[in-house]
Amino acid sequence: MQRHTTLGEFIIGNQKDFPYAKGELSALLSSIRLAGKMVNQEINKAGLAEILGKFGSDNVQGEEQMKLDVLANDLFISTLRSRGEICGIASEEMEDYVSFDEDIHKDAKYVVLIDPLDGSSNIDVNVTVGTIFSIYRRISEPGTPVTLEDFLQPGNKQVAAGYLAYGTSTMLVFTTGNGVNGFTYDPGIGSFFLSHPKMQIPEDGKIYSINEGNYVHFPEGVKKYIKWCQELDPATNRPLTSRYIGSLVADFHRNLLKGGVYIYPKGTTAPKGKLRLLYECNPMAYLMEQAGGAASDGYTRIMDLDPTELHERVPFFCGSKTMVAKAEEFMDQYR
Ligand code: AHG
Ligand code: MN
Ligand code: MN
Ligand code: MN
Repeated sequence: MQRHTTLGEFIIGNQKDFPYAKGELSALLSSIRLAGKMVNQEINKAGLAEILGKFGSDNVQGEEQMKLDVLANDLFISTLRSRGEICGIASEEMEDYVSFDEDIHKDAKYVVLIDPLDGSSNIDVNVTVGTIFSIYRRISEPGTPVTLEDFLQPGNKQVAAGYLAYGTSTMLVFTTGNGVNGFTYDPGIGSFFLSHPKMQIPEDGKIYSINEGNYVHFPEGVKKYIKWCQELDPATNRPLTSRYIGSLVADFHRNLLKGGVYIYPKGTTAPKGKLRLLYECNPMAYLMEQAGGAASDGYTRIMDLDPTELHERVPFFCGSKTMVAKAEEFMDQYR
């Protein structure tokens, strides 16, 4: 009887593809896999376990934290801290980064940046949410506390990136620079199985994802692109379809499978956009490029942007190459 490959078997079978010393990647990913299972467990009983609703404080983003934001953050930190490969973590939910300085971390080579719970506004309404992670090699000397520079690296230096999507099924999708592979969690067995090998986004698509409620605040190029999407032109498959879930992970995953473009532009109410470069845009840009798509801020490749702050925001255009190029054409024309 043919069965799917487990995540563990996949890593062992593809060691040559992983730019890590033997076993390091599996330790890194197994900590993310474990934390993902624990967050998934909490989400699946959210309505029963008193973890819906607001935590009662704001995060550094000025957002009201949801209980699950804080719980997911704590679960990932404690799980990642328990592995010797990681020497520090930065998170959407923490103002500053955390350095792991126990004895087991003295040879640690990697830092992790994480959005522990993406799509928080959807938690209480039972809509797909996710976790996004980005992994770099540290720049500072092993055995010393991590520094801000370890985290402020351009996206083109990532060694791995991925997301967990807690949806109708729970999936782990990641890349280490050799393509994108998707694993589906079987709760009955407690393992992730390879369900979407070598994921590639269609070159073009019919879906555009943007919060049109902000239309009045958008730059002229985005307004023109949206109107272009809505024009009647059967020869170019228009009008396109609008789909916006409000969880980046969910919109991204659907576009990755079907083709499409996700745009969170800057606006008068969000002068640099809403999405954070280090733990939302860079990891999603790495995945998208590895899957044959594109990701920019409307002008410049996301992974070539030089970060200056841990929580900096950038405009985000991400998806099928042809669709991103079309949106960038309007951005260029209406600077
Ligand atoms: P987070 O919940 O991690 O703060 O991220 C929410 C992001 C992203 O997931 C989503 O696409 C976008 O915010 C939705 O923003 P709007 O509600 O402003 O459209
Ligand atoms: Mn997010
Ligand atoms: Mn978040
Ligand atoms: Mn948030």
